[in-house]
Amino acid sequence: MIRLRNIERVFLVGEERVHALRDIEFSAEKGEYIAIMGPSGSGKSTLLNILGLLDRPDNGIYELDDIMTTSLDDKEQADVRRHKIGFVFQFFHLVPRLTAEQNVELPLVLAGVDKAERRKRVHETLEAFGLGDRINHRPDQLSGGQRQRVAIARATIMKPSVILADEPTGNLDRTSGNDVVEILEELNDQGMALIMVTHDPELGMRAQRRIKMVDGFIEEDTGNRV
Ligand SMILES: Nc1ncnc2c1ncn2[C@@H]1O[C@H](COP(=O)(O)OP(=O)(O)O)[C@@H](O)[C@H]1O
Ligand SMILES: [Mg+2]
Repeated sequence: MIRLRNIERVFLVGEERVHALRDIEFSAEKGEYIAIMGPSGSGKSTLLNILGLLDRPDNGIYELDDIMTTSLDDKEQADVRRHKIGFVFQFFHLVPRLTAEQNVELPLVLAGVDKAERRKRVHETLEAFGLGDRINHRPDQLSGGQRQRVAIARATIMKPSVILADEPTGNLDRTSGNDVVEILEELNDQGMALIMVTHDPELGMRAQRRIKMVDGFIEEDTGNRV
């Protein structure tokens, strides 16, 4: 489902070249559950951003569901992203002035789904995520854990083939973090691949496969089939 070949990413900071990713070879199959671990600055977010089509590599190729994404223009990439990728950030990235319902329905609006169908799907999802009584709340009226559940609902309402989560529990207490991980794992059980960056070894142990990054390289992969 995902194939990365020889991925390089170099950032220019003033005169200095920061090699954030070096020669990354990585594949993931449909429905896998993968934890990405490693020290701060090792390239985890850079890798996830490239997988999420939020950033482009300087070299190498990225194939997603038989689409060679590296040869698409920005508009075509945005289209692939909307349909195939659900991205969950550490700091939620909800639209502050919109309610939970309006945040979650955004991808459906972009996809041209009609209002009645949108309402039905958004309400079902928010109910399932334990947010049935928070539908009309704005992000600043929700707890961190509730905001992250809204963000996950928004990221997955289009039933993407992969969920990419960058330290989704990094800003939450353990109990809310657990709720969030359980929701992500439930979606994984429904067939969406889950690739999660985490600092938490306990969370890492829950994944079927663990990748350890060091200094822009994949140092260890418990199940790479490249
Ligand atoms: N937009 C950017 N501009 C310059 N350097 C960056 C940028 N993004 C990341 N880096 C650098 O690339 C390296 C990897 O960063 P990152 O992928 O964020 O690491 P991690 O998520 O593992 O903490 C770091 O040295 C970081 O400073
Ligand atoms: Mg990071």
